[in-house]
Amino acid sequence: MGAPHILKGLEEEIASINRALVANLDTHVPFISQVGRHILLSGGKRIRPLLFVLAARLCGCRSNNLADFSTIFEYLHAATLLHDDVVDAATTRRGMSTANTIWGNQAVILVGDFLLAKALSLAVTTERLKVLKVLAHTTTMMAEGEILQLLHAGNLNLTEEQYLEVVTRKTAVLMAAACRIGAILGSAPVAQEEALARFGENLGIAFQVVDDILDFTGDERELGKPVANDLKEGRITLPVIHALANAAPADRERLAALAREMEPEAGPELQAILRRAGSLDYARSRARDFTRAAQNDLADFPPSREKDIFLAITAELLERTH
Ligand code: IPE
Ligand code: IPE
Ligand code: MG
Ligand code: MG
Repeated sequence: MGAPHILKGLEEEIASINRALVANLDTHVPFISQVGRHILLSGGKRIRPLLFVLAARLCGCRSNNLADFSTIFEYLHAATLLHDDVVDAATTRRGMSTANTIWGNQAVILVGDFLLAKALSLAVTTERLKVLKVLAHTTTMMAEGEILQLLHAGNLNLTEEQYLEVVTRKTAVLMAAACRIGAILGSAPVAQEEALARFGENLGIAFQVVDDILDFTGDERELGKPVANDLKEGRITLPVIHALANAAPADRERLAALAREMEPEAGPELQAILRRAGSLDYARSRARDFTRAAQNDLADFPPSREKDIFLAITAELLERTH
C-alpha cells in the first residue's frame, strides 16, 4: 500500500520513522520482535509520530533524535491496536490477519504490554520529567477511555457528550500528547504548547469520528478492516446516537434491534437507515467542526512548511478513505 494522499510529501520523514521503529524494537525474546514487526510493519499511516516530528520542528526543535522519540507514539498506538483487536475480536487489520488471529489473545496482550513498556523506556531517554508526566497522564486517560467504552457497550441511551468523552480519551489524547511533547522538546512557550495540544486533541476527535463513519460507509478492501463491525461489538457511535434520536419511528426501532443484535447481512440496511435520518451527514458535520477548531488552534503560528502540512492533514482528514 503506497502512502495515502494525506501524507504526500512526507515520504522522507516516514522513512526515518520506519527505520527507528525497527531499530528500537530490540528485545531478548525473538517472539516479541516477530509479533511487534507484524503490527508495526503492516502499513500504518504513522500519523502520531508524524504529528510529533512536525510539532517539534514547528517549535524550532533541532534535536537529532526526533525519529527515535517519535517511535514512542507509534509503539503506544500499536499497543492499543493489539489490545483493541483482542477486545473487538477483530480478525483483519490493514488487510492482514490480526496478531490475535495468528498468535492468540494471551500472547498478543503481553506483547501489547511490552510495547507500552518500550514506549515509556524511550520516553525516559528524553531526560525530561515533563515529558514523562504528560505520557503518564496520557496512558492513564487512554486506559480509562477503553474501559469506559467497554462499560458503554450496548448502551442505547449513550449521549453525544459521553461518546465524545470516550473518543477524546481513547484516541485524541495520544495525538494531543504527540503534539504537546513536540512543543516541549522544542522549548516552546506555554501558549504554543497549549495551542498544539488543543490542535492534536481536536484533530484526534475528528479522526475518530471519521473512523466511526467509515465503519458504516467505508470499503472493506480499502480500509483493510471489516466494516459494520462497531455495532456488532455493541459500540454506539455518533451516527447511531443521532439516528436513535432522529430517525422515523420504524427505523429507530429497527436500529435499536440491530444494536442489540447485529445481523451479519444488515450492513446495507443499516447504512440506509443512517442516510434517511441524515445521521452520516450529521456526523460528518461534527467532524468538520473539530477539524475547523484544530485549524483555528494554529492561527497564531507564523507561516511555515510544518504549519502548511498540519493544515493540509486536517483538511484532507475529512476525505480520507482509510
Ligand atoms: C486506527 O488508527 C485507530 C483509530 C484511532 C481510529 P489509524 O487509522 O491511525 O491506524 P493506522 O496505524 O494508520 O493503521
Ligand atoms: C480506535 O477505535 C482504537 C483505539 C484508539 C485503540 P476503533 O476500534 O474504532 O479502531 P479500529 O476501527 O479497530 O481501527
Ligand atoms: Mg477496533
Ligand atoms: Mg473503528
